Amino acid sequence: MNKPYPPVYYAEYLQLNKVLDAQKPKSEEYGQPAHDEMLFIIVHQVFELWFKQIIHEIDSVCKMFQDESVDERSIGVAVSRIQRIIEIQKVLTEQLRVIETMTPLDFLEFRDFLIPASGFQSYQFRLIENKLGLKSENRVQYNNIDYFNALNEEHRRQILASMENISLFEMVEKWLERTPFLKFAGFDFWEEYKNTVENMIENERQIILTNPTLSEKKKETQLQQNAKTLEHFEALYDEEKHNELEKEGVVRLSLRATLAALFINLYRDEPILHLPFRFLNALAEMDEMFATWRYRHVLMVHRMIGAKVGTGGSSGHSYLMTTIEKHRVFTDLFNLSTYLIPRSSLPELPEELTKQLGFYYSQKIKL
Ligand code: HEM
Repeated sequence: MNKPYPPVYYAEYLQLNKVLDAQKPKSEEYGQPAHDEMLFIIVHQVFELWFKQIIHEIDSVCKMFQDESVDERSIGVAVSRIQRIIEIQKVLTEQLRVIETMTPLDFLEFRDFLIPASGFQSYQFRLIENKLGLKSENRVQYNNIDYFNALNEEHRRQILASMENISLFEMVEKWLERTPFLKFAGFDFWEEYKNTVENMIENERQIILTNPTLSEKKKETQLQQNAKTLEHFEALYDEEKHNELEKEGVVRLSLRATLAALFINLYRDEPILHLPFRFLNALAEMDEMFATWRYRHVLMVHRMIGAKVGTGGSSGHSYLMTTIEKHRVFTDLFNLSTYLIPRSSLPELPEELTKQLGFYYSQKIKL
C-alpha cells in the first residue's frame, strides 16, 4: 500500500531553523558579549514553550466544561490533562536550577540591557492566570499600574479578551452547582453531618482550653481561630452568611458548589464520585504547583538580585512574595479539608442513593 503522505524531514517538521535562530543576546548586539545571556534566553524560551502547552491543555479542559452538561466520560480525560499540566509544572520548577547555575555577578554583565523587559510581561503567563480564573481585583498591583499596561498592543488585546471569557474556575463552579446528589428524599444528610462537624469543632475547643502548654494569649488566639472555623462552617447552612463571606473575599465558590465539592470529597469512595474527586484534587494540586513555582522563582530572584527592584520596575522580591498567596485560584478546594470528618463518622447514605452512586455489582468493603 502506498503511503499517501509526502516524507517529512525532522528539522522542517519542527521548524528548527526558526527556533534555533531565535536567540539574539543583547550583550552581543551591543558589542559586550556576556556568556550567560544565551542560557538566560534559552531557559525563558523553554518556559514559554511549556506555557503554550499548558494553555493548550487548559483550553481543552475548558471546552469539556463549557456546556450545560458535562459528559461523564470527559472527566477522566480532564483529569489526565490536568495531571499533564502538573508534570510540566514539576519540570518548570526543577528547571529553575539550570538558570541558578548563573551567578548574580554573571547576570549583572547583561541585566541592564534588558530593562524594562521582564517575566512580568509574559503574556502567556497572564493568559494562564486569567484562563484559570485569577480575578483582576485579587491581583497584587505595583506602581498603581494594571499589569496589562506593561504589554504591547497585540498582547494587551489578547489579555483583555481573556478577562472577558468565562474561566475554568467559573465553569467548574457551574458544574458543581449542577451536581444531582445533594437532595435526598426522607434523609437529612446535612443535619447528621452538621452535628458531627460541630462536635469535632467543639472537641478542638476543649483541647485548646485544657492544653497546659499554651499561654493565655496563645489560648485566646487559638480560641478565636476555632470560633472563626465554626462561623465559616455555619455559613455552609446559611446563604446570607455565605454571601457575606463572599463579599469580604474570604470565600469565592458559591454555596451550592461548595456543598457539592464537600459531598464529593466526603463520599469520594463511591464509584460515581471517584473521578469528580480526582478532578477536584488535580485542580488543587495544579494550584499548589503554581504557588510552588512562584515561591521557587522568588527565592531565585532574591538570590539573584537581592533587594533591588526588578527590570520590570516592581519591588522585585517583595512584590513576588505577596503574589504567592494572593494569586491562588482554587483556595476554596483547600479549605474544604477543615470540614472533613473520619470515614468512620460519615453518615450512612440511604441504600437507594448508594445504589445510584455505585456500580450495580459493587460490594461494600471497608477501606
Ligand atoms: C535571573 C533570573 C530571573 C530574575 C532575576 C527574575 C526576576 C523577576 C522579577 C524581579 C520579577 C518581578 C517583576 C519585575 O519587576 O521585573 C519577575 C517576574 C516574573 N518572572 Fe522572573 N526572573 C528570572 C527568571 C525567570 C524565568 C526563567 C521565568 C520563566 C518564564 C520568569 C518568569 C517570570 C514571570 C512569569 C513573572 C511575573 C510574575 C508575576 O507578576 O506574578 N522569571 N521576575
